[in-house]
Amino acid sequence: MTIQEITKSLVAPGKGILAADESTGTIQKRFDSIGVESTEEMRRAYRELLFTAPGMGDYISGVILYDETIRQRASDGHTFVTVLEKQGVVPGIKVDLGTESCDGSEIEKCTKGLEGLDERLKEYYNLGARFAKWRAVITIGEGIPTDGCIAENAKRLAQYAKYVQEAGMVPIVEPEVLMDGDHDIDRCYEVTKKTLGKVFEELRLHGVALDGMLLKPNMVIPGKGSPKSRPEEIAEKTIACFIETVPAEVPGIVFLSGGQSEKEACENLNAINTLSMEKPWELSFSYGRALQASTLDTWHGKEDQVGSAQEVFLHRAKLASAARSGIYSLDIE
Ligand code: 13P
Repeated sequence: MTIQEITKSLVAPGKGILAADESTGTIQKRFDSIGVESTEEMRRAYRELLFTAPGMGDYISGVILYDETIRQRASDGHTFVTVLEKQGVVPGIKVDLGTESCDGSEIEKCTKGLEGLDERLKEYYNLGARFAKWRAVITIGEGIPTDGCIAENAKRLAQYAKYVQEAGMVPIVEPEVLMDGDHDIDRCYEVTKKTLGKVFEELRLHGVALDGMLLKPNMVIPGKGSPKSRPEEIAEKTIACFIETVPAEVPGIVFLSGGQSEKEACENLNAINTLSMEKPWELSFSYGRALQASTLDTWHGKEDQVGSAQEVFLHRAKLASAARSGIYSLDIE
């Protein structure tokens, strides 16, 4: 398949992406919250629960894996890559290596992992990955983000995306403006607009094929410490911001959930899809927490809870799919 065909399949009607690429440190935090020890076997067992959920391919087009996970197998001996392929789901891989201080700052971060990336991509391709993810984080605060932090992250995202396309895979370009803080929705709009503007400037400069990539952004939304906005306002501001910055050649935008609850992430995505404004892209999801929170809670590390946890996961996936199609309502929760 060409990268353009893979891109289209990832944003196929009614479908979106499951981000199950939590690094060892992040999954430890998730397991801590349910009192489960984060051993390699428990992480494997949890990912098996997700990937073998019967019929998940009806709602999920692709799954982002972590380096450890792409090498693991289900209990029946099949690799997780094979398990996903059998479900009709495209395997993807997180390829950034976390963050480092940006220009000596104590708060601002730059994402790292470009060194040796071309070699790692070849290995991931051979293991079956057909798309990749790189996440940059932009923090809102007093005097930040700085232009330097936005520019450096945008440049690295573009370099990553170019490498990924050269390796025959689809890059998911993720510049996440964090919800941390008490800023209002208009401040988020302004920072998201500036960030996306710079990201697309760099993507063009590096010759990245815009029809063979997906953008994974935050929604335009108030900080966690601010009063919430209505889904309609979030939808209007999000689309207005993208109309100003995201070229129409980009086939799809797959939102991260970024700390929104499962319900909020569905309500807001639904409002985005039902909004009557010009929207030249597919508008779908690439949720981590908003697809997994209640699944983790139901599982609790117990083998006899696997079936119920899978049902919960499938229900969340179905609701996110409904929101992606603009047919979600609180009645179907
Ligand atoms: P959340 O949906 O939990 O924000 O995770 C998505 C993701 O992949 C962040 O990089």
